[in-house]
Amino acid sequence: MKRTRSENASRISKRQLNDDDSENSYKATHVKETTVVKSINKPTSPLRSLTSSVQSLTTDTSKKPQQQQQPQPDIFQRGKALFRRTVVPSRLIGREAERTTMMDFWTQHVLLNKPGGLYISGAPGTGKTAMLNDVKRQMETTSTANKTKDKKHTTKMAMINCMSVNEPKAIYTKIVTELKPTNSRQSPFPGDADIIVQAEHLLLNSNKNTLYVVVLDEIDHLVTRDKGVLYKLFEWTSLPSSRLVLIGIANAMNMTDLVLPRLRAKNCEPQLLNFNPYKAADISAIIKDRLYSLLDDDRHCQNTETKPTTPLPLIQPIAVELCAKKVAARKGDLRQAFDLCQQAIELAHKEYKRSNTNCNNVLRDSKTNTKVSGSRSQLSATDPPKVTIRHISAVSQSLTGNSGKDKLSKLTTQQQIVMGTLWKLKQKKTRTTMSDVCSEYTSTIKANGTIPPVTTTELYTIISNIQDIGLLSIKGSKEQTKQQVLLNMEDSDLKNMIDEVPLLKNIFQ
Ligand SMILES: Nc1ncnc2c1ncn2[C@@H]1O[C@H](COP(=O)(O)OP(=O)(O)OP(=O)(O)O)[C@@H](O)[C@H]1O
Ligand SMILES: [Mg+2]
Repeated sequence: MKRTRSENASRISKRQLNDDDSENSYKATHVKETTVVKSINKPTSPLRSLTSSVQSLTTDTSKKPQQQQQPQPDIFQRGKALFRRTVVPSRLIGREAERTTMMDFWTQHVLLNKPGGLYISGAPGTGKTAMLNDVKRQMETTSTANKTKDKKHTTKMAMINCMSVNEPKAIYTKIVTELKPTNSRQSPFPGDADIIVQAEHLLLNSNKNTLYVVVLDEIDHLVTRDKGVLYKLFEWTSLPSSRLVLIGIANAMNMTDLVLPRLRAKNCEPQLLNFNPYKAADISAIIKDRLYSLLDDDRHCQNTETKPTTPLPLIQPIAVELCAKKVAARKGDLRQAFDLCQQAIELAHKEYKRSNTNCNNVLRDSKTNTKVSGSRSQLSATDPPKVTIRHISAVSQSLTGNSGKDKLSKLTTQQQIVMGTLWKLKQKKTRTTMSDVCSEYTSTIKANGTIPPVTTTELYTIISNIQDIGLLSIKGSKEQTKQQVLLNMEDSDLKNMIDEVPLLKNIFQ
């Protein structure tokens, strides 16, 4: 399957590169994302465009004279960037059966103008959302050339993350807002009617020229509160007047048992697609694919065919296998594998910097205390890998036991204050948005008066860095202020952190 250059473009945001490692030499805050995307010009590698982007953030060779170039991010920094949670890979490895099922569904329904439902289930981090986005992108790119497309109909699409709504009925509002016709010449829209009537008017009607595709991600969030909305929408897909293709994605294991019997009873059972947890071999292949992109970036391996015979950069293959086995033995959540790799690289990086500093000290003239030679040159992707089984073993303890506690103790003061703010908000509210965090953080810090508050932009960066560490998740809405912030750890660990750190105790108690 051929890919276009734009398909291959990994999308990487500023914050993905804005490592909280203070020695990170390639902080990207001053570089516009658009520059990054434009700079991508090498289409063959899976994450090549990502690593190219990392370079482009530091080196704009077209504008700056040679001597003003900033240093290249080193192999460790580029390696860590590959495993950020927020990285969108340009290609997905494996999952061919699931891809085929999704593409067949898309062809049979979206392209052939036929209403229907698809219910995707699977544990967290098994690639459900990534695969749907990839299939959608692929189908959209090829659909104009696709001969199976019924040229007579137009398709309108709404992608909704159910975490972004306060209450299930708001799903109807989202659907209507995103999909209702803007063209007044079309059939009159009952704008002042009840929102369910409006949604019905839109999705159930005799106009066969428009098909509405609604993707509901994280539908678990709906089911735990009010299954009615979900049942109704799936029912609508099977009515004679339906114009709706509904794709629901769920990650709770018991969701299928909860929802499907009733849909089956009503004769509107959607097509099912389950994502099994990744096995060790899958996880290992995905990690290796990302690591090989470091080689492409160094232009040592122009041909992907030669990769299997080329030594893996940065992490020893046996260490990758260990990481994959450890994650597969738990729930096969790819995000955990990425976290482990990132932490192991970080650990190896620290050790390398330490040994490098010692080496440079030794290289000073003992009498004059002047350096007799420069520092060691930077490691490249073809140097022997520095991340070993020992590093993976050390960080993999974070998969079990009191990992949250450990991670909390390593946060910076401002990061800890943000976590304290989230803990405080959780005592008051069931749902916390970015804007809640900002106002609570600012008022708490100002009321306390011990340290100055950071700006809103800095606060967003801090929150996003904490997300990269895995202590919280940011979900939903395109609008940053409305995004939901969820804690990924026990309240008791947060409470202990506040009790143990005097400044936090002073601020939050
Ligand atoms: N086959 C794959 N190849 C490469 N990267 C993948 C693959 N599958 C998933 N990923 C990456 O793993 C991460 C988790 O995937 P994704 O968000 O799709 O999981 P999910 O099943 O939707 O999880 P959740 O249920 O928590 O929403 C993402 O960063 C995604 O890009
Ligand atoms: Mg998902």
